[in-house]
Amino acid sequence: MLEVKGIYKTFNPGTVNEKHALNGVDLTMEDGDFITVIGGNGAGKSTLMNAIAGVWPIDEGTILIDGANVTHLSEHKRAAFIGRVFQDPMMGTAATMGIEENLALAKRRGKRRTLMPGIKRAEREEYRELLKTLGLGLENRLTSKVGLLSGGQRQALTLLMATLIKPKLLLLDEHTAALDPKTAAKVLSATDRIVGKDHLTTLMITHNMRDAIVHGNRLIMMHDGRIILDIRGAEKQKLTVEDLMHEFEKISGEAFASDKALLG
Ligand SMILES: Nc1ncnc2c1ncn2[C@@H]1O[C@H](COP(=O)(O)OP(=O)(O)O)[C@@H](O)[C@H]1O
Ligand SMILES: [Mg+2]
Repeated sequence: MLEVKGIYKTFNPGTVNEKHALNGVDLTMEDGDFITVIGGNGAGKSTLMNAIAGVWPIDEGTILIDGANVTHLSEHKRAAFIGRVFQDPMMGTAATMGIEENLALAKRRGKRRTLMPGIKRAEREEYRELLKTLGLGLENRLTSKVGLLSGGQRQALTLLMATLIKPKLLLLDEHTAALDPKTAAKVLSATDRIVGKDHLTTLMITHNMRDAIVHGNRLIMMHDGRIILDIRGAEKQKLTVEDLMHEFEKISGEAFASDKALLG
């Protein structure tokens, strides 16, 4: 479903701020793979996602999604088949619009923009059922303005919107990092349910090693713009946080510098 081959990205080349953010990344994802991504601050995790989403051109390498070469495709064009959720709950939803209006917009993603037709009863029922599965009580607030929701409710809604039309790829960049632990757990279990139900090919960045171990079928660790660890299946299930810390220190030669990861 995803083939990333030899990609490089340097920010501010030739200046004092030059940064080799991606140093030859190769990554192949099978249909339905759910990969968790960990690594220290500045490891290149978000940059990898931005490269896949086409936020800016990469310097070298190719990116194929579902067999199609998208390396030179604009971010806008790729958005038709990529779902994304970021850390900031304020992004991804329109605050001044209602919950059902937001969902209706997501439903029309990638379609030609015409005047937005009214929301039909069947559609409203579909949204109500979807919202129910979140367990956040949103199914009774279809016309509430999204700006009135909590951060966790907004992230859960963003997740529904990103997956309402089945994306070829779902990219989650620390989408629960800004939430309190209880809400984060709810959004993560909603993530598992949605990804599992539609067999979505998913990349999920998390700073929480335990979450990285528990979720998904494969785990990669990044460091200095490279993938330094790729563990899957039964081997992944046996992993402990201590194993990961140890691997990181062994491969990178540095202590894993993230308090959040330790606390998680
Ligand atoms: N748009 C940008 N312009 C300049 N530097 C950037 C940009 N995006 C990321 N970087 C730099 O690239 C490196 C990797 O960043 P990032 O991928 O965001 O790390 P993380 O693994 O924490 O998500 C960092 O040194 C960061 O400062
Ligand atoms: Mg990041």
